[in-house]
Amino acid sequence: MKKHLIGIEDLTAGDIGTLFETAAQMHDVQRREVKKLPALRGRTVINLFFEDSTRTRSSFEIAGKWLSADVINISAKGSSTSKGESLRDTVLTVTAMGVDGLVVRHSASGAAEQITQWVDCPVINAGDGMHEHPTQALLDAYTLQRHLGSLEGKHVAIVGDLTHSRVFRSNLLSLAKLGARVTAVAPPTLMPAGVGQWAAEAGFATSYDLDEVLPEVDAVMMLRVQRERMSGGYFPSPREYTIGYGLTRPRLDLLRADVPILHPGPMNRGLEIAPEAADAASSLVLDQVSAGVAIRMSVLYHLLAGEPEPLKPETIKGV
Ligand code: NCD
Repeated sequence: MKKHLIGIEDLTAGDIGTLFETAAQMHDVQRREVKKLPALRGRTVINLFFEDSTRTRSSFEIAGKWLSADVINISAKGSSTSKGESLRDTVLTVTAMGVDGLVVRHSASGAAEQITQWVDCPVINAGDGMHEHPTQALLDAYTLQRHLGSLEGKHVAIVGDLTHSRVFRSNLLSLAKLGARVTAVAPPTLMPAGVGQWAAEAGFATSYDLDEVLPEVDAVMMLRVQRERMSGGYFPSPREYTIGYGLTRPRLDLLRADVPILHPGPMNRGLEIAPEAADAASSLVLDQVSAGVAIRMSVLYHLLAGEPEPLKPETIKGV
């Protein structure tokens, strides 16, 4: 495994397998009454978040704490960046305090990669602009694999605001590495520019017709309409979007029985996903959240403890 986790690009299929194996062990720890493991005792992890987040930040925080690391959260709103400090100065100031791992979220694509040039410790990308969000894609694939078994040959539809989605980019890469087949579904205005060539090179399919795709798939992943990243009119009205691309109550009948529904959150209920879909028995939305902690424990463990192998039984005993 590489020193940093900037994107799924950094991982081989073997690395993903190792991360999943450790995550499964961590998942068992999550079910215990006492959840702490001593693996990262004495290490300090800083969550440096320049963009809003609820689940990713708290998930990394819980993951670090359950591994006995000291976790400190810094968010841009309360930091000196709002006083004009440059990203480089903020990062150097924070790491000068003695940090063993940096988890970074930033609105600029490439920010996490850039930070690796300035610091010695491992950097984990928790979402950089429209580029990648590797731990989200790992937890999505892990959740799906636990539900469906091997992803080899499985057909996954990824639906929604693909242009602005780092989750889409990371999922395309991870699902391809695990042998799944992806169909990307979006209105023409929310399909990334140049998607034709990209799809041909990366081996995924595209469609503008959700109703045609739904009966074919083994899983469906809905993505949020990212209004905060939109400057103009990408669709006529929220209602039109839902009619064309929302996972509505009637559309659930187009899915084969028990096809799992995923959404990375936060969900716009009633826009891209109806409550009946979000809360369906086949919805894995909350499984994704709980898998998120296990995956982040696994990533922190391998990167910060420098361990290439999954946990040894004595490590998993607890503190
Ligand atoms: C995603 C993100 O921030 O990229 N959410 C998340 O990490 N839970 C997706 C989104 O914001 O829609």
